[in-house]
Amino acid sequence: MIENNVPHVGSPVRIVVVGAGNRARTYMHYVKANPGKAKLVAVVEPDKVRRDFLADQFGIPEEMRFCNCKEVFSLPRLAEAAVICSPEKLHYDHCMLAIEAGYHILLEKPIAQTLQECEEIARKADEKRLRVSVCHVLRHHPLFAKIKELIDSGKYGDIISISHMEEVGIDRYTHSFVRGTMNRERDNNPMLLAKCCHDLDFLLWIVDARCRKVSSFGSLRWFREENAPAGSALRCVDCQVEGECPYSAIDLYKRRRDWIGSFIPAPGEMIDDVIDRELKEGRFGRCVYRCDNDVVDNQVVAIEMDNGMLISLIINAFTQCDCRNIEIKMTLGEISCYGDMIKARHFRSREISAFDFSHLGKIPHHGGADMAVIGNFIDSLLNPELPLISPLKMAIESHHVIFEAERSRHTGKTIKFKTND
Ligand SMILES: NC(=O)c1ccc[n+]([C@@H]2O[C@H](COP(=O)([O-])OP(=O)(O)OC[C@H]3O[C@@H](n4cnc5c(N)ncnc54)[C@H](O)[C@@H]3O)[C@@H](O)[C@H]2O)c1
Repeated sequence: MIENNVPHVGSPVRIVVVGAGNRARTYMHYVKANPGKAKLVAVVEPDKVRRDFLADQFGIPEEMRFCNCKEVFSLPRLAEAAVICSPEKLHYDHCMLAIEAGYHILLEKPIAQTLQECEEIARKADEKRLRVSVCHVLRHHPLFAKIKELIDSGKYGDIISISHMEEVGIDRYTHSFVRGTMNRERDNNPMLLAKCCHDLDFLLWIVDARCRKVSSFGSLRWFREENAPAGSALRCVDCQVEGECPYSAIDLYKRRRDWIGSFIPAPGEMIDDVIDRELKEGRFGRCVYRCDNDVVDNQVVAIEMDNGMLISLIINAFTQCDCRNIEIKMTLGEISCYGDMIKARHFRSREISAFDFSHLGKIPHHGGADMAVIGNFIDSLLNPELPLISPLKMAIESHHVIFEAERSRHTGKTIKFKTND
């Protein structure tokens, strides 16, 4: 899909990055590796340590380091593109400011927090003839692209139904959605939007149909104070049963040293200092049963498409693996994907084709897909004929289904979409 027929942009595409956290640092690996195509010229980040950490790597002068978006987007345009990686609830404001100032945008998911906001961004981008690409990384991942290729080949016929299981992984869940900053709907977003907008986007991308009806159920069932075991305390460091707790912060961060990528040492500090500080007084040392979280830990979404196809999506936090399992039932065969392995079975020939993507586990940045996300955005600016793989308007369609699924979860009603039939 060619999103807004934009004038040619010369290389390298100059970039302003907004929010110098994990995602921005990831995308800037692409910039470092492709100096002929992209150049970081300014960093917007309120946290001085993070701002300087990124800016120093690119030799960004002091006057191009900003604390907030208003400062940078009220200046005459400094660059052609903005890469927006700020916290989710700020995306709408940051995106509108950047579009108003004339920047093409690579926008981290989710787009915004309501359908109206998403549509306003699209209207404004159209008005200014700017491109907005949403970082729906599955579209750029070889495994998910292979599933689409198999479906599009026609060999397996038409899709009858899809069961899609998002296995969040217990470590990711406790880190981000219980202790971390994505743990409250009001402060961030519902789990379905924050985590599973990728899944809904993927599902709508592979099917040639539109949503007719959606229903959803879900709750925060386990990570609540009434489930705290006897002997537990407000923090893992004070807990008498920490040694047997599967959700221990000491085990996760200090012993296994997992999920410490967002712990950034201040100058003169070591990573162990940050881990110890978090365990003693930070949000990541808290008991999982005694946090201020309210996002769901289990949810189901049922969708009927306008051609009768049925889709079920299950989000489950209680999994050791952090992966997606998919079963696609089709008229001439079936395609399944468990973790890294796709199998396609053809009914008449009895042929089974297997595709192993386990080698991608060793490639950083989502198997290289993150580099493809920013690569497609930059290439589409350098060559306006090149379509965006994840254009804003397609992402709005999947966000719409999510907003309605959440409405269903809260009201107990099945939500019907306006369709042509
Ligand atoms: N596409 C994916 O696979 C994927 C994966 C993880 C996160 N994300 C999304 O990426 C975005 C960023 O996530 P992250 O993991 O990098 O988070 P992060 O917390 O590491 O980074 C966000 C940064 O934004 C900064 N910030 C806060 N207020 C700001 C403001 N007013 N202006 C500018 N910057 C501000 C924070 O200080 C922080 O450094 C979120 O929308 C998240 O949902 C996407």
